[in-house]
Amino acid sequence: METNRRRFFALLVALPLLSFFSAVRHKSPKTLEPTPPCDDHDEPTPPLEEGPFFTPRSPERSNLIEQNMTGSVIILNGRVLDTNCKPVANVLLDWWQADDKGEYDNKGYRLRGHQYTDKLGKFRLETLVPGLYPGRTRHFHVKVQAAGQRPLTTQLFFPNEPHNQHDRIFDPALVMGVQRKGDKQVATYTFVLKA
Ligand SMILES: [Fe+2]
Repeated sequence: METNRRRFFALLVALPLLSFFSAVRHKSPKTLEPTPPCDDHDEPTPPLEEGPFFTPRSPERSNLIEQNMTGSVIILNGRVLDTNCKPVANVLLDWWQADDKGEYDNKGYRLRGHQYTDKLGKFRLETLVPGLYPGRTRHFHVKVQAAGQRPLTTQLFFPNEPHNQHDRIFDPALVMGVQRKGDKQVATYTFVLKA
């Protein structure tokens, strides 16, 4: 009798706990889903000058690192939203950048490539941190083009870069979030295109 009563009370305690944990388990994917912070993204990403080193028809790839390249790896996890905060799928992102010595490959396609956003407007670029060259702070070049729209030509910058303040075209709206993770840097940026 005593044993039955104990079991009964144990169940009374265990059942709400079980349902609590199961609710947490079911809820957590939802709570972890990133909500587009609309307030921060109601302004379209500003354009910035193209510069002299764009080469059309880059290869399609999301990893620009090739053998025999030196430099520090950076992974850019980005998104493209429109000004209504809706993800934009199938957006072309065409990247070009200097190598770790600050040099562009103007004959071939080293450190050049294009890719497309997925259904959620996301993209992932794996590349090397670009080097500095005279007159410019550290930057990536990119053309961002939604299907049937004109391309947005712009550049992305690094935070806490001493040369940012000396670069005449530096724009704080184009600074990526960058964190160091082990021997890599992980960056984030959200492009906003006019809806
Ligand atoms: Fe450049």
